[in-house]
Amino acid sequence: MKEIIPRPQSCVEARKGGFYDMAQIDALDVDAKFKLTAPVITEILEKGLCKKLGKEGKNVLKIGYAAELSPQSYRIEVDENGINISAGDPAGALYAVQTLRVGSMMGTSKLDTKVPCGKVNDYPRYGWRGILLDESRHFFGEEEVKKLLDVMSMHKLNVLHWHLTDDQGWRIEIKKYPLLTEIGSKRPRSQIHGWQSTDVDDVPVSGYYTQEKIKEIVAYAAERGISVIPEIDMPAHFAAAMAAYPWLACRELKRDVHYYFGGKIPLSQGIKDWNRSACIGKPTTLEFIYDVIDEVCELFPAPYFHIGGDEAPKEEWKDCPACQELIRSLGLKNEKQLQGWFINEIAKYVREKGRRLIGWNEVLEGDNLENDVIVQYWTPQKDRKVIKHVKKGGNVIMSKHKYFYFDMPYAQYPLRNTYMFNPYFEGFISMYDNKVKGIEGALWTEWISTPSKLEFQLFPRMEALAEVSWYGGPKNFKKFLQRVKDYIPLLDMYGLNYAKEEIYRAVNLFSRLNTIRTWYGGNENVEYEKNDNKY
Ligand code: ACM
Ligand code: ZN
Repeated sequence: MKEIIPRPQSCVEARKGGFYDMAQIDALDVDAKFKLTAPVITEILEKGLCKKLGKEGKNVLKIGYAAELSPQSYRIEVDENGINISAGDPAGALYAVQTLRVGSMMGTSKLDTKVPCGKVNDYPRYGWRGILLDESRHFFGEEEVKKLLDVMSMHKLNVLHWHLTDDQGWRIEIKKYPLLTEIGSKRPRSQIHGWQSTDVDDVPVSGYYTQEKIKEIVAYAAERGISVIPEIDMPAHFAAAMAAYPWLACRELKRDVHYYFGGKIPLSQGIKDWNRSACIGKPTTLEFIYDVIDEVCELFPAPYFHIGGDEAPKEEWKDCPACQELIRSLGLKNEKQLQGWFINEIAKYVREKGRRLIGWNEVLEGDNLENDVIVQYWTPQKDRKVIKHVKKGGNVIMSKHKYFYFDMPYAQYPLRNTYMFNPYFEGFISMYDNKVKGIEGALWTEWISTPSKLEFQLFPRMEALAEVSWYGGPKNFKKFLQRVKDYIPLLDMYGLNYAKEEIYRAVNLFSRLNTIRTWYGGNENVEYEKNDNKY
């Protein structure tokens, strides 16, 4: 059998050879416990692998429950007489079928329905394998999100971390605060050409998800074994909310939803304080936040809530009577501890709703974080506070910049980075391995404005993410490169755009070419342009 992506933990072919042809399967017998994923399982099998599937037939594919298999795990046994699948839960049942599908198309543009006799025994290295999608900076919409969910499921990824709010757009309907989307989801243009640039386009960006649409997408994800985790970023990255309701800030200023991502444009207009945090000191801000959380939690059943918490400036809090009074009354030392107190308050609030809070590194700033808050490790520099958190029993999700920031050019972070990731590089010794909850690739979209560019940044990085988060075993990059090539027919099946080999293999092109780093020159298959040379 071709070595699929992600590689199964154990895959043994029968010594005597032989195969079973799935094309003769005409019936499916799925355990009632797997009702959630059964429709998608049927859909995948009927798409060219098997015949139209009845309840009874001559050649039945049985997918049974096995109590000894843990969640997400599965077993496939193949001999000349048929295929037997066992799984521990609905996701495991679906993954077994994804394995058969990927196996049937690896390295071939024509489906190969013959499955070699043997046994696959498979389970994930990490229980949490995710993609962050930033729909604040650009809005891609339902169709693209569903396409991503389909492809994530094929890669055995199980978390969509949905970044729905930021300075540049609020993208989720909140019924109690209609201006969040009426005002906060719209901007007239966008900064283009990278962080240092002052160029702008003239393309308005708008769009948001109604609560009904969110429920539909969350259900669509669940049928594919995927949990959707909302991120409502605060106290900073909150400018879209403050544009709608200026009283959320320490100083009530009339400010628009940001169309810029970096500091040069607002600085050129004399606006130094463009990056602002919400006012924690005013009770009305906390009331607003609790109201938002109430509505958001009704839409997302997963037992997690992502608060962001990153890159929160403290200057305004220093000059705000309300924030200073709160610091005094709580006996806190400084504004960093106020940030920590705020995060803990939100953690308590969502805990009462049966959810665990997740936040980026900066939630550790105050040195007062509750242990059950999960820290998502993104910072390029090593963060000793994360190691300390883990030693105290806390959990971490890995999204380290150099390996998992999929918005970065391949010329800076080639595919090899993602594939070679090993949590031990980052100071996590093996005794804390069980504290690494999982791994996420992050697709920030400041410089990604079309689905095609989004896919270019994501593929074949999703393959490497799947390999390190699901398989997580010994590495061989050269062999992996060949497996990526063999995987291309599956990407083509979904009509996805992906980076070509000369782009994703480029090593340190940025440091070798002393040039302006213009990431996006208008062509979705080119990372940046310099004179007449395209890279
Ligand atoms: C982040 O990139 N600020 C989480
Ligand atoms: Zn304040």
